[in-house]
Amino acid sequence: MKTIFSGIQPSGILTLGNYLGAMKHFVPLQDQFNCFYCIVDQHAITVPQEPAVLRENIRRLAALYLSVGLDPNKMTLFVQSEVPAHAKLGWIMLCTSYLGELERMTQFKDKSDGRGESIPGGLLAYPPLMAADILLYGTDFVPVGEDQKQHLELTRDLAARFNNRYGDIFTIPEVRLPETGARIMSLAEGTKKMSKSDPNQGAFISMLDDADTITKKIKRAQTDSDSVVRYDKAEKPAVSNLMTIYSLCSGKTLDEIEAMYEGKGYGAFKTELAEVVVETLRPIQERFEQLFHSSELDDILTAGANKANKVANEMLYKVEKVMGMARI
Ligand code: TYM
Repeated sequence: MKTIFSGIQPSGILTLGNYLGAMKHFVPLQDQFNCFYCIVDQHAITVPQEPAVLRENIRRLAALYLSVGLDPNKMTLFVQSEVPAHAKLGWIMLCTSYLGELERMTQFKDKSDGRGESIPGGLLAYPPLMAADILLYGTDFVPVGEDQKQHLELTRDLAARFNNRYGDIFTIPEVRLPETGARIMSLAEGTKKMSKSDPNQGAFISMLDDADTITKKIKRAQTDSDSVVRYDKAEKPAVSNLMTIYSLCSGKTLDEIEAMYEGKGYGAFKTELAEVVVETLRPIQERFEQLFHSSELDDILTAGANKANKVANEMLYKVEKVMGMARI
């Protein structure tokens, strides 16, 4: 059976972008693959985190993973910092990387922009840790949104570089992007990615926003002046993004949506878009409420860490052995 690995940072409440671009696709994969899904708290601390908030966000993310339909009997869910092999292989992957290739990562450039001399070192070391996450499990496929594609390419380069030097240790993973929704855009600016760390709360829909908040955010979402519901990414990025969200939440095609709102303007479109988004998130939010405070959640994470530790330690041992570090 082929292996899947993916991770999400507990750095805020997940957005509709995280759901439509990544999490939603994790669910059907659990029936066909050996899946590892991770709460990457060590990636989250590459920028400062408030301890109580981080603790809560880790638990929230764990509950959300399960609320969307992931089943602990079918996949492995765990917290990255509870599997020390990640940090250990992360260091080895950092030593396998070149400064130039790390500095070229667009996420590094974006996140370090404006920080002057005070760019946290962790931001630079972030992609090698991500490579370690993936490579520890012999991963074949990594389902992610488009913004992670460059990190995946680096992961493949690092794996190949390591294999070249030490022999065939790592599986070279492939990225799996969704056909639509790989890049859900901000509601405030149709050319910018929807992000959970956006300081403008109106720019994203959180997976835990209530119906009122969702409706208000969608009503205020950017459109354009021609009032035509038509998909055109270049000319009408904001409206096209709303249509993509509509399509993914309702199962209707873009053509069907265009036809439904022909001659009707943005008002009716936005009202019904809000309804389909609310209905998509409602069952997830209901399950979330039950799971968040349950002790079942702790048991699932403990079992997940045990399983992940076993698999990861085996790979780490192999790596350290070929490098001359493990005593044999
Ligand atoms: P993170 O936490 O930023 O995002 C989690 C997942 O959501 C996707 N995503 C989006 N997809 C579509 N539209 C958007 N606006 C959008 N915003 C986010 C991301 O592509 C991602 O799939 N570095 C990763 C976490 C990570 C990881 C890994 C992923 C750490 N180790 C190993 C895969 C494998 C990140 O910051 O994702």
